[in-house]
Amino acid sequence: MNKKNGVKILGTGSYFPKKVLTNVDLEKIVDTSDEWISTRTGIKERRIAEENEYTSDIAYKASIEALKTAEISPKQIDLILVATISPDMLFPSTACFLQKKLGSKLSTPAFDLSAACSGFIYGLTVARAFIESGLYKTILLVGAEELSKFVDWTDRNTCVLFGDGAGAMILSASKEEDDILSTYLEAEGAYSDLLFLPGGGTVNPVTTKTMDEKLHAIKMQGKEVFKAAVPKMAIAAKKALELSGKQLEDIKLFIPHQANIRIIEAVAKKLGISMDRVFVNIHKTGNISSATTITALDEAIKVNKVQKGDIIELVAFGGGFTSGAAIIRI
Ligand code: ACO
Repeated sequence: MNKKNGVKILGTGSYFPKKVLTNVDLEKIVDTSDEWISTRTGIKERRIAEENEYTSDIAYKASIEALKTAEISPKQIDLILVATISPDMLFPSTACFLQKKLGSKLSTPAFDLSAACSGFIYGLTVARAFIESGLYKTILLVGAEELSKFVDWTDRNTCVLFGDGAGAMILSASKEEDDILSTYLEAEGAYSDLLFLPGGGTVNPVTTKTMDEKLHAIKMQGKEVFKAAVPKMAIAAKKALELSGKQLEDIKLFIPHQANIRIIEAVAKKLGISMDRVFVNIHKTGNISSATTITALDEAIKVNKVQKGDIIELVAFGGGFTSGAAIIRI
């Protein structure tokens, strides 16, 4: 492809629902303990959306903050992309609902992208390609999830792991700067049955039987997912680094997908990075799938963990399996 533009990151934003669900609260719902959850996952609490607070609502709040940081109005956005596996509805896309909330007179194209926990990095790659090709100039990219509405609250193997939240980024064409140094993506559909939501699609259309069998909730073989996540994230991180032409020492901060502190520590060890260069906020958020890397990046910026011009690596792994990494400059 003939590269017409570089990509500038104009701003980021994030939003978490107000309601906090702690591990101690979970002890009253399923047979679990704060001690088990903390030591096995690193999670202490997660945010849970209200019944009438939808994925597009939290996506909207994150987007408004990102637009404010970028100092642009919704009218200047020429593409809206939402990475999510917990959409408002199967269709229309959450991106269309978000567009409506941003301004009912807008006609900006909008669509969702589904790559599970790697969704934001997949979205970043798509946004980058659109901007570099010259097709779109200014893109709103969102990672938003309400996984609390897709878990079986009687299954302690899964319900303790996930949470709700949204992050947004504004990307724009630039002739001078290029803030996306590289992106790298992979998928392995052969492992699709290790982490999935089987009900509600064409395989298992909703019936009373699928409801009784709770096929509308996330199913996961945690140990297998764990085993695959560590090498796959390390591979993606190395490939993106190679593609960027940068060295490990050039990376100010690593922002891995926040699924499990033990996965994060194992990936850091494999890459030879000390944990003080790795951003962790899983204790407050739980696993929010496509929203983890962008909300963590937004927090790292807000708490001055990174400064303008710093180079950061994002890396993720999720259902599919999918994996990916990106080297960016903020
Ligand atoms: N509280 C108490 N006990 C529990 C809980 C719980 N919430 N959940 C499971 N257990 C029990 C199990 O029933 C099992 O009991 P048993 O030995 O009597 O059968 C025991 O704890 C050990 O279970 P394991 O599955 O062996 O525990 P493990 O150490 O593998 O930890 C975990 C489980 C946390 C799910 C881990 O495998 C993991 O994090 N895997 C990655 C999964 C993940 O992060 N998925 C998210 C999406 S993909 C991604 O984002 C990377």
